[in-house]
Amino acid sequence: MLRTLKHIKNLKGKRVLLRVDFNVPIDKRGVTDDTRIRETLPTIKFLLRKKAKVIVMTHLGRPEGHVVDSLKLDAVAACLKKLLGKKVEKLHNCVGKAVEAAVKKMKEGEIFLLENIRFHPEEEACDPKFVKALAKLGDIFVNDAFAACHRKHASVYGVAKHLPAYAGFLVEREIKFLTPLLSKFAKPLTLVVGGAKVDTKIGLLKNFFGKADYILIGGALANTFLAAEGFDIGKSLFEPNKLETARELLMLAEKRGQHIVLPHDAIVADEVTEYAKTLDLPLEDIEGNMKILDVGSKTRGHFTDIIKASKTVIWNGPMGLYEFTPFASGTKAVAQTLAGLKGKTKTYVGGGDTIDALKRCNIQPKKFTFVSTGGGAMLEFLEGKKLPGIEVLMR
Ligand code: 3PG
Repeated sequence: MLRTLKHIKNLKGKRVLLRVDFNVPIDKRGVTDDTRIRETLPTIKFLLRKKAKVIVMTHLGRPEGHVVDSLKLDAVAACLKKLLGKKVEKLHNCVGKAVEAAVKKMKEGEIFLLENIRFHPEEEACDPKFVKALAKLGDIFVNDAFAACHRKHASVYGVAKHLPAYAGFLVEREIKFLTPLLSKFAKPLTLVVGGAKVDTKIGLLKNFFGKADYILIGGALANTFLAAEGFDIGKSLFEPNKLETARELLMLAEKRGQHIVLPHDAIVADEVTEYAKTLDLPLEDIEGNMKILDVGSKTRGHFTDIIKASKTVIWNGPMGLYEFTPFASGTKAVAQTLAGLKGKTKTYVGGGDTIDALKRCNIQPKKFTFVSTGGGAMLEFLEGKKLPGIEVLMR
């Protein structure tokens, strides 16, 4: 059974070490999609109402154990402050004497945000000393970072071993909505996968074989498969060191009768700008300096037909470089088709970029059965894998 916030007897004056996933998109103006932050507000507000001292930890990006200025959490702190309507003090580190001294002075109902936890290599290594240094800051650990629950990291898994540990409302809700998908989903099931995190997605796809009736692949991920099939993809982004994996996957899919649908045409351009001159070409015509930046119009139609004929659809990852208008049509078509299906088809959407894309398309989360805050975590959960961050909260 999952230990949740309702199992905590007394929060007044307690230091609650709260792990959230504020790995949100940021540009010069600040946070461009605050969904993941807003989704944790019920937990944060609950803890503050109960007069806890809330010490928030999160990662942002993949700084690989170094301080990276652009991945500091100032913009995140400003966003949280605005959403809460309350002062959020951002500390300059997440462990050490200065942090401990600041936490010691905290008053009931106050909230601090620790600096990006991944500036320390010990976070991802789940280093015991680092775990202890973090655990020292709290009396209770609450995990509301569903999107990071597949990581056996110090702030997700390690501290939960040292402190009384509970799931926040967001984690509880994710588990409630996603669990039925492990065994009780209506067929046909279509998995739509795209995005740029090519290497992680290839591993995840493998685990969906045999579960999905159709796997539709777009985004940069598709480029690796297309290159593996021998297509000239010009100067498109792809993972050369995953070509063999992609070939093996395609062979395995064929053996298992798994339909994998790859783009058969593409929107291409030589440059990535708002004003890029684009062509909508069959794959065979792609060459030279051309970059595949979205699925083509025929693929768009094929993908949306399959989606409309499905009873369950899971979507993770944009179909193209949706941030630029000329390359947003594929992602928009998938989003709009799914949004139009509510009631007839169960629709599950996840991933930071996918959620950002929905926002840009002006599509409300309520148009879907469930919008997960998890990317990789959502998919690994749906494969039936045990997520370390969740397992450690079970009793
Ligand atoms: C995500 O965006 O999926 C989570 O924040 C996890 O990020 P990671 O893949 O860098 O661990």
